Amino acid sequence: MSSINDQLAQLQTDSLAKIEQVTTLLILEDIKTQILGKTGALTEILKGLKDLPNSEKPIIGQLANTVKTTLTTAIDSKRSYLEEEALASQLAQTTIDITLPGIAITIGKTHPITQTIDHIVSLCKQLGFSVAQGPDIETEYTNFEALNVPKNHPARDMQDTFYMKNGNVLRTHTSPAQIHAMTAQKPPIKIIVPGKVYRCDADVTHSPMFHQIEGLYVDKNVTFAHLKGTLEWLLKELFGKNQKVRFRPSYFPFTEPSTEVDVACFKCNGDGCSLCKKTGWLEILGAGMVNKNVFRHVDYDAEQFTGFAFGLGVDRIAMLKFGISDIRLLYENDIRFLKQF
Ligand code: DAH
Repeated sequence: MSSINDQLAQLQTDSLAKIEQVTTLLILEDIKTQILGKTGALTEILKGLKDLPNSEKPIIGQLANTVKTTLTTAIDSKRSYLEEEALASQLAQTTIDITLPGIAITIGKTHPITQTIDHIVSLCKQLGFSVAQGPDIETEYTNFEALNVPKNHPARDMQDTFYMKNGNVLRTHTSPAQIHAMTAQKPPIKIIVPGKVYRCDADVTHSPMFHQIEGLYVDKNVTFAHLKGTLEWLLKELFGKNQKVRFRPSYFPFTEPSTEVDVACFKCNGDGCSLCKKTGWLEILGAGMVNKNVFRHVDYDAEQFTGFAFGLGVDRIAMLKFGISDIRLLYENDIRFLKQF
């Protein structure tokens, strides 16, 4: 018994001395393994335990535990000491120049297109329109035929369509959303549909992807007067009470009669300049009374119901409102440009 007893005492004395002298964390962990590890010195000594009489085993076992606790505590406190020392020396070496300017975090803003859509949507909501959506990919039927644009109709050429391999198209306008809405819901219906549209066309005023907002109001006794009143109010809210607005007769297959709506040129206020191509007016949207043929495609009773529709070019409006001369600026994501809005 005395021999194990002595060995344990010796182990404790030697180990405490070693721990005392350690100067790095790496060596400390090494020593810990040597003393307390699975194949370390303590385990080695305790191998002799099995040869002792049973009566002595618990006493030596208890002693071994005390030694283990003493050494573990010594190692832990040495570790904390070394860690603190390392941190202190690291802090002493690092100098921070608190006079350097900080990194300014800039706050993101909504894109001018989104701002314009949000504005128009909130105005239309005041008139009782609710917001609907339609898919970007349409069939030829929903993009054209159901809107009274039959195959070989010249209007299909007017809209440089992106055709997909399977014969579907990227919608060339938001008008097919009218078909989806009227197929899903019986009148009355009063919706606007903001969304992306696609045409194979690109220059300073045309982008292959741009934005429209479609409007549709169908009920009993909806007249052209409602259409005029709605759009006049909307455009004056959008561009200012004194904004001059004019309705020109026009043609769209899905409306009859049809109109195009112009606002007086912002730049020359009607005198004629390069922006308005000397006309004094800027075209802002197309509209009209929903064609009976469209109602036929969605099973609406044209004897009972009438409606008006409009399609408004968001990019054009954003460009006019913010004085942006090149549509491509809207899609380059140049932060210096976007920051201005
Ligand atoms: N879809 C037409 C276009 O993209 C715009 C339009 C005109 C929409 C008249 C309408 C409308 O709803 O009634 O050129």
